[in-house]
Amino acid sequence: MVKPVRKAVIPVAGLGTRFLPATKATPKEMLTVVDRPVVQYCVDEAFEAGIEHVIFVTGRGKGLIEDHFDYQYELDSTLRSRGKEAAADKLDAETPGAGQVSFTRQQKPLGLGHAVWCARDIVGDEPFAVLLPDMVMDGEPGCLKQMMDAYEEVGGNIISLQETSPELTHKYGIVSTGEEKGKAFEITGMVEKPAPGTAPSNLYINGRYILQPGLMELLANQSTGAGGEIQLTDAMLTMMETEPFYGVSFNGRTYDCGSKFGFLEANIMLALKHDDVRDEVRELIASLDL
Ligand code: UTP
Repeated sequence: MVKPVRKAVIPVAGLGTRFLPATKATPKEMLTVVDRPVVQYCVDEAFEAGIEHVIFVTGRGKGLIEDHFDYQYELDSTLRSRGKEAAADKLDAETPGAGQVSFTRQQKPLGLGHAVWCARDIVGDEPFAVLLPDMVMDGEPGCLKQMMDAYEEVGGNIISLQETSPELTHKYGIVSTGEEKGKAFEITGMVEKPAPGTAPSNLYINGRYILQPGLMELLANQSTGAGGEIQLTDAMLTMMETEPFYGVSFNGRTYDCGSKFGFLEANIMLALKHDDVRDEVRELIASLDL
């Protein structure tokens, strides 16, 4: 039996420079896709997959995220006093329970690998998930749940992958694949943003990972890589030399809400799944004479 994955690390300490000026005072993870902040999609996905404890790695100016996942007493009592029980119950159900969320800080944005390492003491000696909140996933079941199902079969380290077209591989981290194993397949290598025509596959790393605790030690000794930051990919590549890594091809759609286009795309595509706005959005799109 594999050791269960109970904890998820969600790094939210980045500066979000691609979204300035929106992110001057608002964390990019709090930008709204339809009716919920980007980060809430990711927390819902984690709990749906059976995660018991979410660890946020925050930074300066990210206090709103902490407030968002708190119980809002005034809001709850106002909604209930106005007879909006259903809305209050919904908010209640979406708020993590006592002791299910931790916050730690990354004082300086030294890279994704460093952000994950900041959670080492809370993670402890057990496997853990990492979810990048700006990647919003649309799938049934959710992306992490699909990975968990594969993890139960193969264990080890698992990376979620999304298929893209060969013309776009130069924008992403791309993997090379080996043998199939149940719902997963071996990953034999990774390359960041390969030059056009050189990508080993059409599968890109879309921001969800299940990792064994040994990765934290590698991150501790990791020197800075691309952009002067401590990269998660570099530590994973080192770990790949001694430990099994598997890929799971995500059956669903990934929206990169850290980029303007991905964010707009997510808003349009997910609005088309919301009963209260779907028809109007459809009409709007149909009326466009481009
Ligand atoms: P990104 O590289 O997409 O985020 O990191 P960024 O640096 O905030 O964005 P831009 O490029 O300046 O617009 C992916 C995730 O990792 C977190 C970010 O908050 C984001 O959720 N991150 C990144 C950290 O927590 N710390 C870091 O040092 C870097």
